[in-house]
Amino acid sequence: MTPTVNEPMADVRDMRMAHAAFRREFRLLPQLIRDAVPGDVQRAAVVAAHAEFICRVLETHHEGEDLLLWPKLLRRCGEDAAFIVPIMEEQHQAIDQAHAEASRLLSGWRRTGRGGEELARAFEVLLSALLEHMATEEKHVLPLAEKHVTAAEWRELGEHGLAKTPKWDVPLTFGMAMYEGDPAVIKAVLAHAPLPVRLLVPVIGRRRYAAHARQVHGTSRPARLGTLG
Ligand SMILES: [Fe+2]
Repeated sequence: MTPTVNEPMADVRDMRMAHAAFRREFRLLPQLIRDAVPGDVQRAAVVAAHAEFICRVLETHHEGEDLLLWPKLLRRCGEDAAFIVPIMEEQHQAIDQAHAEASRLLSGWRRTGRGGEELARAFEVLLSALLEHMATEEKHVLPLAEKHVTAAEWRELGEHGLAKTPKWDVPLTFGMAMYEGDPAVIKAVLAHAPLPVRLLVPVIGRRRYAAHARQVHGTSRPARLGTLG
C-alpha cells in the first residue's frame, strides 16, 4: 500500500546502528583469524563460532531487505529505485559469493587450525564487498526509505530479523548492535516492545556482548570501528 499523508515515516537510524556493528566485527575478524596460533583448534573453534554468528546476522539482515525493502522501493520510487535496487541486489550477490568461499575455508580451519591466512584473505574480500554495499545503501537507499517507507513498514524489517534469530541469540545480537549505538536510537528501537523487553534487553544484551567480546576479542570493550564509514 502507498503511504497516506501524515503517516509517520521510517526512522532509519537503526539501520546505521546495525551497519556500525557489521563494520566493527567484520573489520576485526581477519586479524582475529591471523592471531590464532596455527594448529590451536580450541581458539579456532571460538573464532569460527563468532564468524558464523556475525555471518548469520548479516544474512538475516540482507534477507529482510530483499523481501521487505527492495519491492516497496521499486513500486514507489520510480527511476531512483530502478537505478539503485539492481545495484543493491548485485552487491548482495557479491557478498553471498564471498561468504560462500569464506564458509568453505572456515570448516577446514576450525577442524585443523591450519589455513588461517587464506581464510583471513577470504574474509577481507567479504569485508570490502560489505563496506562498499553499506556505504552505497546509506547514501542512496536510506534517504529514499525515509521518504517512501512508513515507520510501521520499517519496523517489519526488525520484526523479520527477530523472528529469524534463534531465541538464545537475540540478547547477544542486540548487545552487539547496541555497543556503538546512540542511546536515543536504542530507545527508539525498543519503543514498541513490551515493557519487560524494553527494560531487560539492553541490560542482558550489554552483558552478553561484553562476555562474548571478552572471549572473542580478549576485551569487553573492543575497538569502536563501526563509525569509520
Ligand atoms: Fe542494511
